[in-house]
Amino acid sequence: MAEQERERLKTGPLWWQAGVVYQIYPRSFQDSNGDGVGDLPGIISRLPYLADLGVDAIWISPIYPSPMADFGYDVADYTAIHPLFGTLEDFDRLVQEAHGLGLRIILDFVPNHSSQEHPWFKASRSGRDDPKRDWYIWRNPAADGGPPNNWLSEFGGSAWEYDAASGQYYYHAFLKEQPDLNWRNPDVVEAMHDVLRFWLDRGVDGFRIDALWHVIKDAEFRDNPPNPDFREGMNPHSALTQLYTGDRPEVMDVITGFRVLADSCEGDRVLIGEAYLPLHRIAAYYGEGGRGVHLPFNFTLLAAPWTAADLAPLIAAYEAAIPEGGWPNWVLSNHDRPRVVGRLGPDQARVAAMLLLTLRGTPTLYYGDEIGMTQVPIPKERVQDPFEKNVPGLGLGRDGARTPMQWDDGPFAGFSTVEPWLPLAEDFTEVNVKREQGEAASMLTLTRALLALRRAHPALSVGLWSPVAAVGDLVAYLRQGEGETMLVALNLGGDPLSATLPEAVGGGRLLLSTFCDRAGERVGDTIDLRPNEGIVVQLAP
Ligand code: GLC
Repeated sequence: MAEQERERLKTGPLWWQAGVVYQIYPRSFQDSNGDGVGDLPGIISRLPYLADLGVDAIWISPIYPSPMADFGYDVADYTAIHPLFGTLEDFDRLVQEAHGLGLRIILDFVPNHSSQEHPWFKASRSGRDDPKRDWYIWRNPAADGGPPNNWLSEFGGSAWEYDAASGQYYYHAFLKEQPDLNWRNPDVVEAMHDVLRFWLDRGVDGFRIDALWHVIKDAEFRDNPPNPDFREGMNPHSALTQLYTGDRPEVMDVITGFRVLADSCEGDRVLIGEAYLPLHRIAAYYGEGGRGVHLPFNFTLLAAPWTAADLAPLIAAYEAAIPEGGWPNWVLSNHDRPRVVGRLGPDQARVAAMLLLTLRGTPTLYYGDEIGMTQVPIPKERVQDPFEKNVPGLGLGRDGARTPMQWDDGPFAGFSTVEPWLPLAEDFTEVNVKREQGEAASMLTLTRALLALRRAHPALSVGLWSPVAAVGDLVAYLRQGEGETMLVALNLGGDPLSATLPEAVGGGRLLLSTFCDRAGERVGDTIDLRPNEGIVVQLAP
């Protein structure tokens, strides 16, 4: 396969290499039936907006039947659509209409755990002799009757839940409502492969695979060792390292199974793996010889301190870590972490957008970031996220990044006709698609311009990356494609900045500033940046 991929690259990049992925949190994108929760017909109605924005694919967080203990990441049926979101017919229409507009569809696949309401788990729980008992992870109590070992749930407390009826504990890496499947059981593997086939046959273009590094746990169920870096105020779960509960060597066999299946389909289906791991381990998820996922998510920007001294080496280290044949990717926000505007403020969020959309590799753009939606403070009585409910007060709650998309300044921001499931941002009358569409220098105008520039100049998506400078607040790098070199210079600070570039870089013509002005300006060997400004310069050949 690796050979084949190399051959293909010679003929041009694949769609998911040159393209931009847009993440939709379906509960919050567009409500079409007035229940305060987004749905598939709502997404369908906004496809023209997405096509026009200039993204290439949409990844939709889970839309399957679910009791919603973890808002869809607790799946009760892997091959159906939750009535809240619509029907399978709606889904087929979504695929058809998206494809008609040149947009690809990526589904969220949640292999690590199901809902406790899934018929598989109900059967498994029904008794020790049930044929599906071993589809989940059941263990006897420890000698003192307590949990079998010290493993902790990501969402607080022990990862073991006692089942009085059968006298055993089951393991759940997340909520107790999300029992972990046993991927050492070949029947589970087969059943989940059938799930993938079901959606691939319906025309999906790929999967974002949830909690991938969790799927295999230690066969001997050894205790996790304490984490020496643990400090008060951190998620209690990180009191232990995940030595025996995550990133086990056998995970690669599971991934290879997915990869072989995806590669056996017509067209270029993509697999994107979620794993919060150190760089060198992320790199391992590409697998040897194309046996891993196509894109192991790169989350380094989510937590990176926003200074040139931190970002420049981080980009270089990531570039260096990508194995031969591997393709980079970048994430600035998602449904699990605070929004970029919340982390960096609105001014630097514009610079961050330029960074995201001019680095080498596939960017994932989180819904609403294109208009500068902020992290919304959630009043206690409106908290929905089980993470916040279980581990309160540490700022871990994810609701603030999942609030309704702001379409216009009308009632409920054009998202719904009733009060939405999560509160709207207070600033929605200012920060919304309709208003920003008409403004020359809005965040939406900038995002559009960046996406258009990227499309018009492949150097910016698939060209080589090389560092130029990281001094003071300046990060500068080159992107070199066929017959074209671009300079990207970003001022990460709030003061004006002037820098002389190495002679070899030379001057050129400014194509885009984060303030959406200056296009066409000549740039010599000195660049001048205003506070919080980033620029893209096309260098003279
Ligand atoms: C992933 C999802 C997150 C979910 C968890 C459990 O990390 O991104 O939203 O809560 O898995 O499924």
